[in-house]
Amino acid sequence: MLFPQLSLRESTGDTVILMPDSAQLPPALLTTDLGRHRPLAIGKVRDIYAAGQDTLLFIATDRISAFDCILGSGVPDKGRILTQLSLFWFDHLGSLVPNHLISASTADLPPAFTPFADQLDGRFMLVRKAKMFPVECVVRGYLSGSGWKDYLATGQVCGIPLPAGLHESDQLPEPLFTPAAKNHTGHDENISFDEMIARIGAPAAELLRSLTLAIYRSATAHAATRGLLLADTKFEFGTVPGPDGEPVLILADEVLTPDSSRYWPAAIYAPGGPQPSFDKQYVRDFLETLPWNKQPPAPALPADIIRNTRARYLEAFHLLTGRVLPGA
Ligand SMILES: Nc1ncnc2c1ncn2[C@@H]1O[C@H](COP(=O)(O)OP(=O)(O)OP(=O)(O)O)[C@@H](O)[C@H]1O
Ligand SMILES: [Mg+2]
Repeated sequence: MLFPQLSLRESTGDTVILMPDSAQLPPALLTTDLGRHRPLAIGKVRDIYAAGQDTLLFIATDRISAFDCILGSGVPDKGRILTQLSLFWFDHLGSLVPNHLISASTADLPPAFTPFADQLDGRFMLVRKAKMFPVECVVRGYLSGSGWKDYLATGQVCGIPLPAGLHESDQLPEPLFTPAAKNHTGHDENISFDEMIARIGAPAAELLRSLTLAIYRSATAHAATRGLLLADTKFEFGTVPGPDGEPVLILADEVLTPDSSRYWPAAIYAPGGPQPSFDKQYVRDFLETLPWNKQPPAPALPADIIRNTRARYLEAFHLLTGRVLPGA
């Protein structure tokens, strides 16, 4: 149990058997190897291949990044966990917003990729290639991370004034939409809503803001039934051509995973300091103990840190979906 005060069985009614400490972990997939196919793009976590005119093969590897650097070790099964959680949430949110998913079944892989089905199984999605908005749609329900630092320095979060006297991890009076510009250097930059309007136009900015807040509310309600608070998260949206060629807005990328979201166990929520979470804070805390200047190359992780990080991702998956990750 990662958070001793929180019993999975009590919080969700599920029985979950985590891998014993002595068990051998599977190898981490750090880079995809799809023979003669070359990736169109390599992100910090995903390798993306063209799978047809308007279709992408979107593969989550087991890479992990912190402080915007890809770390020297991967976390076995992380890519499968991220993909399966995104699939869960795409399904859950289906009535609110259309998304980029075409299929995650190996039966639907284009013939050129079927020889690699074993490598891809569980960690890929065939998605509609979207024209992405160059904005990350961040929503914060609680005062944490960079939002807390901003509030301490300015009394505001991303230019939005807040009441005085709030504490770290306090719930905000209402969820805040705090967009960030996607930056080619890999360091995203917070921008005001006016700046977002200047970049993508008022109609799109207003639609993305209201969708982001609606999705956050729906996800928060589900997380609450599973004993979790969703402190903050970010979404990426894009457009694809509709039946008459008109642009249709879709939710893309990964959604509501521990890489893009901060989940806290509700049972031990105690504002006034940082909260234990399922995100990469555990890894960041370990990295802070090293004499590393946060520039590439990033260090490798010791075996126990990898094992504990993997257990956190798996526990987030178990809690949110009520399911055990197949084969893990
Ligand atoms: N349906 C889609 N069509 C086109 N691009 C997409 C789609 N969904 C997600 N993307 C893009 O694919 C990339 C996902 O890769 P990954 O998450 O590894 O990258 P990242 O490190 O988060 O970001 P980046 O490399 O872009 O700075 C992101 O750049 C995202 O904007
Ligand atoms: Mg990403």
